[in-house]
Amino acid sequence: MLGLPLVPWPLELALAIALAVHWSFIGMAITGSAVLAVNLLHGREQNLRLNRHLVSFVIFGLSFGITFGILPLLMVQVLHGNFFYSANIVIAYWWLAVIPLLITGFYLLYYTRLRLHSERPPAFFLPLLALMVFATIASILVSETTVSQFPEVWKEFHWKWRGLLPYWGAFFIPRWIFAFGGLLAMGGIMVSVLSKITMRSERQLQELAISQALRITTGALFLQVAGAVWLVLALPAEQQSVLLGKWPNVLAFYSAAASFLIAAILVQVARRRMTAAAVIAPAVIYYAGLFAAAMARDKGREVAMSRFFDLSTVAAHPQWAAFIVFLGTIAIGVGMVAYMVHLAVAYRGREE
Ligand code: HEM
Repeated sequence: MLGLPLVPWPLELALAIALAVHWSFIGMAITGSAVLAVNLLHGREQNLRLNRHLVSFVIFGLSFGITFGILPLLMVQVLHGNFFYSANIVIAYWWLAVIPLLITGFYLLYYTRLRLHSERPPAFFLPLLALMVFATIASILVSETTVSQFPEVWKEFHWKWRGLLPYWGAFFIPRWIFAFGGLLAMGGIMVSVLSKITMRSERQLQELAISQALRITTGALFLQVAGAVWLVLALPAEQQSVLLGKWPNVLAFYSAAASFLIAAILVQVARRRMTAAAVIAPAVIYYAGLFAAAMARDKGREVAMSRFFDLSTVAAHPQWAAFIVFLGTIAIGVGMVAYMVHLAVAYRGREE
């Protein structure tokens, strides 16, 4: 065993930060697709105009969500690589299906955008199909994380089911409901923030976008809470007691619950006030909730894995030179992304 390139906690912290960013952008693609479909169902000129604005956000959200998926992938590989890759192999066909599914989702959205700028608007089922594709990908990711924590089912699962089905055990459904509810909720908040920032010259459309997106967030929060309660009840006793009763894990769990609750209240304020501060506040609080949920999620995984290995006993051989190059590269990358966003916003401003 080579050991870890660093003590585990900075990697765990980075994993939670990165996952929360990944989920925020993926959520934008998911909720954005739902808003596009609803507007196409209405079919009025105002809804179509709104969709012409929104469709670019949705594609942007998907691209950034995928790019920010790479970051947690790095941390997961280092921390839980042996279980992560074994689970990938066990659900092989599903795992490989993520790439063609992503390409399908992209092209459904590109085609929707093409048609929105043509004489004949697209059918509502195009973005709806994209939404279903993303829901399927979410179920594959949830399967992977679930399967990775149950090495005892790997053999049976692989030989009996040939890895063709996700693992439909007691956790899968509540975990998927919780995850999908969370993606939808954060997605609505992200769409409302971007609408607030980029649609300043179209006040009426902006308000319509914010109200549609935050209505979806409100419904999704109920879904998320239901999934969370069900998931906690479905956890084995030792995971329950570590998450709900052992310091510092309780901090992550209750911070997540409190952040989601406060965000739910702030969302209702934003639906009424729609000022920049009112729209941005739930985004900040909900992001903190996603971060805390990602921390709690990893603690749950650690408890499940403790039957086989204990992260804290894995030797750490810090490789500072490589780490500094890595941090420098990230800083340059984030700087470039910020510059590209700045250019895009400036270009859009000139266009308007
Ligand atoms: C539409 C596309 C995607 C959706 C809907 C999605 C959704 C999710 C969800 C729901 C989870 C949490 C699973 C759980 O805790 O049960 C997750 C985790 C994760 N996702 Fe994504 N994801 C997408 C694309 C991607 C891509 C393209 C990558 C890689 C480039 C990626 C990397 C990851 C990683 C590394 C994790 C953590 C896995 C672990 O901890 O074992 N995702 N994603």
